[in-house]
Amino acid sequence: MAPLLLSCALLLAHAMFPLTAAASSAAYPQPYGIDQPCTAAADDHVPVRPEVYGGGRIIDISHRYHPDMPAWESPNGIGRFLWLTRSMKNGSVANFSEMKLSVHTGTHVDAPGHVFDHYLDAGFDAASLDLDVLNGDALVVDVPRDTNITAEVMKSLNIPKGVRRVLFRTLNTDRGLMYKKAFDTSYVGFMNDGAQWLVDNTDIKLVGVDYLSVATFDDLLPCHLIFLEGREIIPVEGLKLDGVEAGIYSVHCLPLRLVGAEGSPVRCILIKP
Ligand SMILES: *[C@@H]1O[C@H](CO)[C@@H](O)[C@H](O)[C@H]1NC(C)=O
Ligand SMILES: *[C@@H]1O[C@H](CO)[C@@H](O)[C@H](O)[C@H]1NC(C)=O
Ligand SMILES: *[C@@H]1O[C@H](CO)[C@@H](O)[C@H](O)[C@H]1NC(C)=O
Repeated sequence: MAPLLLSCALLLAHAMFPLTAAASSAAYPQPYGIDQPCTAAADDHVPVRPEVYGGGRIIDISHRYHPDMPAWESPNGIGRFLWLTRSMKNGSVANFSEMKLSVHTGTHVDAPGHVFDHYLDAGFDAASLDLDVLNGDALVVDVPRDTNITAEVMKSLNIPKGVRRVLFRTLNTDRGLMYKKAFDTSYVGFMNDGAQWLVDNTDIKLVGVDYLSVATFDDLLPCHLIFLEGREIIPVEGLKLDGVEAGIYSVHCLPLRLVGAEGSPVRCILIKP
């Protein structure tokens, strides 16, 4: 399946950018996860849905929203979330859809109000999140694959002081958990001591992880409390870090400006230096 998809992507790349075929093929390293629409390769009505843009300079690290993406504690994915309420096939002048989904769906951010009710009452919602934390230099690091993120693991990663944004790639990416419909409680995340170590010993304010929660399933609530109490740290959850080289990038995450919501879907990209 994979080689077929790859050749489809390449064909599309050639069709779209015939003069820069070599550069374009490098821009489509490997389509992962859900299907690329590549049934009619040379048809310009088929959208290209790349994972990278600009010859690989810009990497999309948000997951696509689709009914089979995993949802918290659901065996069946997020399910239907889009409804075409007015359709051109029905004589409307335009197609018009509505959507309904949890603000913690797919790649998303948590606001302090997620686990502190008085913070939500006070307005610490998705619209209050600091765009300076969510945009700037970031480090992509690999977490040892045989462990959750403990204090010991945090110490061993040797993340220098001054680093404010870190995306932690874990076993979750190797296991392709974000491409599996059924929610899996055995995902890797922070344990309480790892979260506390990060708060006490680093300058990290953006904490990116590659499954739906920054905290392990076992330490779910206490770990969120540790991260969100100071109202400075922003967890970015459900990132797509497949095929991204570890190292320094510029990260750009823009949540929706949702007043009163304790989280928001977010589009995140990495730009190579
Ligand atoms: C089209 O119109 C019919 C009749 O009003 C309705 O039953 C159907 O749901 C509509 N379909 C869409 C996609 O709007
Ligand atoms: C409008 O929606 C129909 C499905 O009812 C779809 O086939 C068509 O491509 C859509 N048109 C546009 C312009 O998106
Ligand atoms: C991480 O913790 C979860 C429980 O929250 C556990 O199921 C899983 O096996 C742990 N993963 C590793 C790699 O230790």
